[in-house]
Amino acid sequence: MLIRHGITAFVALLSLSLIIFLLHLYKPSNASATGLIESFAAKGVHPCPDQLEWLKPLDLTYPIRYAQRDIVVKPTSGAKRLSLTKVSAPLFPNFQTIDLTDTSKAQLRNCKEPLFLDIPQFTKDVDASHISIGISTTIKRLEDSIPSLLRWLKNTHAKLYVIIIENDKMPEGAKEAFHPADPKRVADVQKRMRDSGIDVTIVQPLAKHDYFSQRYFSLVRVMYKHRDPKTKWLALADDDTFFLSMSSLVDTLSAFNTSQPHYVGALSEDWWSVTRYGLMAFGGAGIFLSLPLAEAIDAKYDDCQERSKTSAGDIRLRECIYWHTQTKLTSLRALHQVDIDQDLSGLYESGQPILSLHHWKGRGPDGKGYRLPTMHLVADVCGGTCFLQRWQFGKDMVLTNGFSVATYPKDHLKRMEVDKMEETWGEPTAVEGSFNRGTDHSLGPTRPKLKLGEEKIQYLLLDSAVTESGVRQTYFRSGAEGELDTVLDLHWVDRAQAVVPG
Ligand SMILES: *[C@@H]1O[C@H](CO)[C@@H](O)[C@H](O)[C@H]1NC(C)=O
Ligand SMILES: *[C@@H]1O[C@H](CO)[C@@H](O)[C@H](O)[C@H]1NC(C)=O
Repeated sequence: MLIRHGITAFVALLSLSLIIFLLHLYKPSNASATGLIESFAAKGVHPCPDQLEWLKPLDLTYPIRYAQRDIVVKPTSGAKRLSLTKVSAPLFPNFQTIDLTDTSKAQLRNCKEPLFLDIPQFTKDVDASHISIGISTTIKRLEDSIPSLLRWLKNTHAKLYVIIIENDKMPEGAKEAFHPADPKRVADVQKRMRDSGIDVTIVQPLAKHDYFSQRYFSLVRVMYKHRDPKTKWLALADDDTFFLSMSSLVDTLSAFNTSQPHYVGALSEDWWSVTRYGLMAFGGAGIFLSLPLAEAIDAKYDDCQERSKTSAGDIRLRECIYWHTQTKLTSLRALHQVDIDQDLSGLYESGQPILSLHHWKGRGPDGKGYRLPTMHLVADVCGGTCFLQRWQFGKDMVLTNGFSVATYPKDHLKRMEVDKMEETWGEPTAVEGSFNRGTDHSLGPTRPKLKLGEEKIQYLLLDSAVTESGVRQTYFRSGAEGELDTVLDLHWVDRAQAVVPG
């Protein structure tokens, strides 16, 4: 009896295994895939859009090769931001040739269901109220910087202090070092910035004869005077310094004991600049002074304003610290002055954690610069550290979120040391007699530059925009002679917005 029960149970188990096995073999037909896509469309994700109206303003030359995909992000506890995360399936469906010359309607044949990506959990409520940030600039440059400041500073509770002038160019023999800014225009800009979520205080220069480097240095005094019981850090930045993730910045700074003096920043990536200007925090990368150091600097304010003859603000600060305190620089690799030129892909595509970038205007292979505020939009959906995060799809494609999609023909990716930075930038200035090669001290380890179009096919971000359910990115590669241009769209969707099942 017992044996018979045993056999029945065994047969039942075998049948069950067989059913599970057969289910495993079963692949949904195209019809059910379409059904799946329709069910997503009902929930705010459109895996197979029939209108591509966002391509219309981009001034593309049709026909183009085209593919697109929705990515639904899922912040997951335990998910890590690695240098490279591998996904075995391909990112895009097969390319299709489309022509939107007279229409925005496209009949896409090769749609894929949304891709679900686990990303590290992130917060949109950053509390940086213990950080004051100082910038010295002109009113025009400040106005131009509002879009980028909004990207990283908005609603972070960090306090921004800006020393403002009209411009630097004074007639010869003038007694003052600058034209003061029109107070009414200053009040307008301050109100506009405050209304949009930046806790800004704009001040006039402390002394009428202050030149640029003195005004920069005086930011320490301005911020020190305005400190409140919460203030722990006084930071100095340029008007084109861009912090990618304020929450990562807050985390990084939390490792320091702010009861002690700290001088935190980054050396230049360029060895020639370091040998010329010194072992100092280069201003564009962002400089962080803990309050005890700021106090020591403020105590020697007059001496440092008068004795130093430099025209650079970050040098004046370095001199003051090294002349009067025992504090030395703590250089953080993730802060970037970006003293490299031409094609900066190697840095942007490095997968490294990056806290700050600078010199993003007017660089790049075509000298048109990188549109960081646009590139960074995706951070709204997946957080600041997800910007420039890398994923490998299938055997040969790497997405660097917000910067590029790259494919590596002939199994190149397999042989590539992906954790090393590709030396895409221009040759650094040689330092005669130095044994330190160009950028090794800062960007190394590096790997040689690949031949674009042969060893690496790169699609750069052309545009990005906020949509009703997330952020869309359009990547572009110009076709070689006789080839079509290629456009790749990714639509990043907040899981909460997508209201997807499961
Ligand atoms: C399913 O789709 C693929 C590619 O879109 C196509 O080649 C194939 O013929 C389709 N199969 C069916 C059963 O419709
Ligand atoms: C921070 O530094 C202060 C002053 O040196 C010291 O008293 C305190 O114990 C330190 N705190 C920690 C957590 O190490």
